Parts: sequence; structure tokens; C-alpha cells
Amino acid sequence: MTVKSTCAVAALSVALGGATSVFAQDVEVLHWWTSGGEAAAVSVLKEDLEGKGTGWVDMAVAGGGGDAAMTTLRARVTAGDPPTAAQMLGMNVREWADEGYLGNLNEIAAAEGWDEVVPPAVQAFGKYEGNWVAAPVNMHRPHWVWGSAKIFDELGLEMPTNWDEFFAAADAIEAAGYTAVAQGGQAWQEATIWEAIVLSIDPNLYQSALIEADPEALGSDQMVEAFEIYRKVLGYADDGYAGRDWNLTTALVINGEAGMQIMGDWAKGEVVAAGLTPGEEILCSVVPGTQGSFLFNTDFFAMFDVGEGKQAAQQNMAQSVMSVSFQETFNLTKGSIPARTDVPQGNFDACAQKSMADLAEATAADQLYGSLAHGHGQPAAIQGAYLDVVTAFANSDQSAADAAAALVASVAAAQ
Ligand code: GAL
Repeated sequence: MTVKSTCAVAALSVALGGATSVFAQDVEVLHWWTSGGEAAAVSVLKEDLEGKGTGWVDMAVAGGGGDAAMTTLRARVTAGDPPTAAQMLGMNVREWADEGYLGNLNEIAAAEGWDEVVPPAVQAFGKYEGNWVAAPVNMHRPHWVWGSAKIFDELGLEMPTNWDEFFAAADAIEAAGYTAVAQGGQAWQEATIWEAIVLSIDPNLYQSALIEADPEALGSDQMVEAFEIYRKVLGYADDGYAGRDWNLTTALVINGEAGMQIMGDWAKGEVVAAGLTPGEEILCSVVPGTQGSFLFNTDFFAMFDVGEGKQAAQQNMAQSVMSVSFQETFNLTKGSIPARTDVPQGNFDACAQKSMADLAEATAADQLYGSLAHGHGQPAAIQGAYLDVVTAFANSDQSAADAAAALVASVAAAQ
């Protein structure tokens, strides 16, 4: 069926005679994958599509976490010129679908059996009012600690399993003259660390404070404790902290200048791009106290309703993104795990295999949560209210108690 529709598009393009591209059709894709590992993953997608006769027009908007990309996307749509497809995180999919801008992918989803292979938690974001509107390309896990094996071996350290061990390791690394915990001073990076700490205190706190926005949980003693731990973690950052991009922060661990980084597994994409083996030269463990739970964020490609002329290319792209072989190749490069459950695991590194096993365990135990920092917890405006408080805390000497109180007020004001 797909082969037929691709041929039909090629025939149409030849009949119209207007090809400026060697491809029957192009897709213009807006995304924020510009770091070394991310760009390598984009190439996998581009080549896969080109192999199927669909050209790639790149609309990359740099900026980890996608804030700048989402601003550009809004401007493009407002100007009446949406891209063919855009990378977006879970809540964004819902918001764009709610505004009526997204095309319907039901036909390809039904033909390819997406309902049977995509975990329900991911479907909850890829479907809107029962219709597939975006194709999930991966599952990222944001609560990892990445460690320099060189430094850990030199100092005889093990990757920490609780906060006491984490701070003891950090002290030893700092005493040896390295940066202990490499961090980048951008709101989304700060929130990535903070939400992992909240999860480590108690998954119920994560659920009630970050997913349900319960004011009691937001202002609770447990939340104060989370900010206290975060204050301690911040104390191990180096002088280059302010404004530093996440991939440059990862590079400090890769280069053996810093002992640890708390960051999502897109950092593993940098490790792979540097020619190193995750789990060997760069160690991985989940953030202390979060074993048993799984935070996730999924990158989707949503298709904008740009008229019938692009529909075949959009279907082609959605089909490519969701194929078993693509999900394997792409996620090996990206650092994430596949968004479908039937992809062979054998070629993945030890950290990804741990992620897959942990996902199954957390799903069975009902311990799977959407990442607030990465667009799977709250709508953008409310997410922003959380991030404002976290970054203000990180960049001042505010007390933990004051930060928890500010969180209650900020979230209430955004609702
Ligand atoms: C996340 C996204 C990942 C990764 C990261 C840093 O929000 O889901 O794919 O690229 O941002 O840019």
C-alpha cells in the first residue's frame, strides 16, 4: 500500500513537471536537534526518508529542550506558513491538536498497528480525542547520572545509589581537583535535575506536586527537602555554570574534566557520537533514590495540516518514523529507547537495556510518570510557572522553604 502511494506521488510530481528537488516530494521538518548526537540522529531520519523518495528540508532551531524551536513554530504558524512536520513533546502535541492545526494519522496508524505496539502512556500524548495526530519516535529518560569511568576508577568510586553516596563521591571528586557535578545554567536543565530529586524523595510527591499540581504537596516539607538537596547539588557546579548548554556540560564528563552530570539520556547520544561506549567509558545509573520509577519524555513528529499536496509525504514520514528498523537505528544514535515495544533489544548498549528493563518494571508497578521539565507534566504555561521558580532558586541564595512557598504561589497564579 505504501509502495503504491509513494509511486503515485512520484508519478504526480513527474506529471506536474515542477520538481526543483530530486525527490518526488519534500518535507520541511522543524526540530531542535543540533548537538553532535542529536544531529547524527537527524541524519538517520533524513537518510531513511530520502531512501524512500521523500526529500528533507531542514528547519533546525538550536536550543536544548526546544524552547526556541517552539517559539519559532508559533511564529511560523501565526504567519500562516507551518512546516510540514515538527518535533514536539507530549503536552505540545495536545495543545496544537486542540487548536486544530494537526493532520490525522489514523489511516497509517491502523495499517501499521500502532495501537498494539506503542505503550498506552505514550499513546495518551500521540492521540487526541481518539485520533493519532503525532508519531512517537522514542522514549527518553531524563533522570540519569552519567559518570566518568576514568575519574571513578582513579578514585576507586562506585556510581551512587543514594544521596549520601552521591555527596560522598562528589566530595572525593572535588577533592581530587575535578568538577564534581557538571551542570548547565538554563531553566530546563535546572528543572531536569530538580524534578529527579523530587522523584527521589517520593514518587507520590512527584505525582501530587508535579502532575496534579496539588498546592499542599507543592508547599510540603518533602518539597522543602527536595530544594535542600538541590541546593547541595548546585554547590558542586563549576564557574562555567551560567548559561552553559547541556551538550557542552556532557563534554566535560566525556573529556574527563568532570565526574558526573545529571541529565537525560540524550547525553548518551553525545557519548556515542564521541565514539565511546555507554556503560564502559561513561558510566550510567539512575538518579539516587529513583530506581523503580521511570520518568519519560517522548519526541513526537506532528504533521501540520498543510493541504493535500503534502499528505503522501507526511504519511511516508510517519510510516518511516514508526518502522521497527528505523526505531532501532535512530534510538541507537539518539540515546533513547524505542517508542514501540517490539524492537529487538540486542544491539542496544547496557544503559539502554537497563532503561528498557526498568520501563517494563515501572509500567507493571504503575510507576511511570511524564517528565515535567520535558513537556509531559503540565501545559506549557503552567510548566513555565514551575521552571521560573526552580531557576530563580538555582540562581540566588533563596532558602528551600521560600522556594517551596514561591512554587505554591507561582503555580496558583498560572492556573
Ligand atoms: C529534550 C528532547 C530530547 C533532547 C533534549 C535536549 O526535551 O526530548 O530529544 O534533544 O531535549 O535537546
